[in-house]
Amino acid sequence: MVFAKISQVAHYVPEQVVTNDDLAQIMDTNDEWISTRTGIRQRRISRDENTSDLAIQVAKSLLKKAKLEASELDFILLATITPDSLMPSTAAKVQAAIGATKAFAFDLTAACSGFVFALSTAEKFIRSGAYKRGLVIGAEVFSKTLDWSDRSTAVLFGDGAGGVLLEASAEQHFLAESLNTDGSRQVLTSGKAAFGSPFTQYAEPEENALQMDGRAVFDFAIKTVSQNILQLLNDSGIDESEIEYFFLHQANIRILDKMARKMKIAREKFPANMMRYGNTSAASIPILLSECVEDGTIKLDGNQTVLLSGFGGGLTWGSLIVKL
Ligand code: ACO
Repeated sequence: MVFAKISQVAHYVPEQVVTNDDLAQIMDTNDEWISTRTGIRQRRISRDENTSDLAIQVAKSLLKKAKLEASELDFILLATITPDSLMPSTAAKVQAAIGATKAFAFDLTAACSGFVFALSTAEKFIRSGAYKRGLVIGAEVFSKTLDWSDRSTAVLFGDGAGGVLLEASAEQHFLAESLNTDGSRQVLTSGKAAFGSPFTQYAEPEENALQMDGRAVFDFAIKTVSQNILQLLNDSGIDESEIEYFFLHQANIRILDKMARKMKIAREKFPANMMRYGNTSAASIPILLSECVEDGTIKLDGNQTVLLSGFGGGLTWGSLIVKL
C-alpha cells in the first residue's frame, strides 16, 4: 500500500501592505468598522505580480526546501478563482516557469475550498501508485477582480499564495475527509461570463465582480461547516481531543470565534492570520499552515493530527483530517 504525506509547506505574499486606514483614503470606510466586524487589519495587494507569479515563488520555495529538481515532479495542482487566464491554466504557467518537464498540471476551481479539494484530489493520485510526488498550491490575486467601489466586499480580501509538496509514504497520513457542494445556494458569485454568439441573442452582460450576501455566508459557515466538522469527527471515530489544531479558511475572525463556541472546541486550537492578510480564498489555509511551520507550531514530523477545513463559493465546503 502506498499513502501520501505533506513533506514541505511554503507561502509567498506580495510586498505591498494595505492597511484599513489606507482603504479609508479611497472609500467610505474605517479601521473600526473593518476590524471589529472581520478581525482584518491589513492585507497584501499585488502591484505587478499576477497569480502565476505568486504561485511560481511558492513552487520554487517548496523545491528548494526539499532539495528536489523540478523534473522530479509528477504533477502540479493549482487551486484558484483568480487565474491569469483560463487557457493556459495558471498551473501550466508554473510548470513551464520552474521546468517541471515531466509534470502534468491543471487548475481546480472550488473558491475558498479550493486548496482542500485540490489536496484531496492529489492524495488520490499518489495513493493510486501511479505518481510519486507533486505540488498542491492555492494562489489568488483577488485585487484584480474586486469592485473597488463596493466597500462591503473590497475590504475583505487580499492577495497571496501557499502550497505543499505531497510525496508517497509507507504510512497513512490522510485519515478522513468530507467534501461537499450545494450549487443551489448562490450567495457568493464572481466572474460571470456574458452569454451570446452571432447565432443567438446576446444577453445583458452579467455582474463580473464578486457579489456576496454577507449574512447568508456567515450563517452558512457557522451552521453547515461546524456541523460538517463535527460529523466528520464522529464518522471517523477521531475524538476532538486528538486534533491538535483546526486550520480553517481565514475569512473572518468572528466566524472562527463563533464556530469554536458552537463546536465547543477551545479557541486556542484555531490558529488565525486574517488580521494580516484578509481573506485570500484558496491560499488562506496553506499560508496559515506555512506560517505555523515557520514559527514551530507545526513540526512536520508525522506526529501532529490536524483538521483542515475550507468553505466558500459554490457553495462548497470540505474538511480533511491529516497527520503532519
Ligand atoms: N465600512 C463601513 N461601513 C460598511 C462597510 C465598510 N467597509 N461595509 C458595509 N458597511 C455598512 C453597510 O452599508 C451597512 O450600513 P447601513 O446599516 O447604513 O445600511 C452597515 O455597515 C451594516 O452592514 P451589514 O452588511 O449588515 O454588516 P454585517 O454586520 O452583516 O457585516 C460582514 C458584514 C462583515 C460582511 C458580515 O456579514 C460577514 O462577516 N459575513 C461573512 C462574509 C465573509 O466573510 N465573506 C468572505 C467571503 S466568503 C468566504 O470566504 C467563505
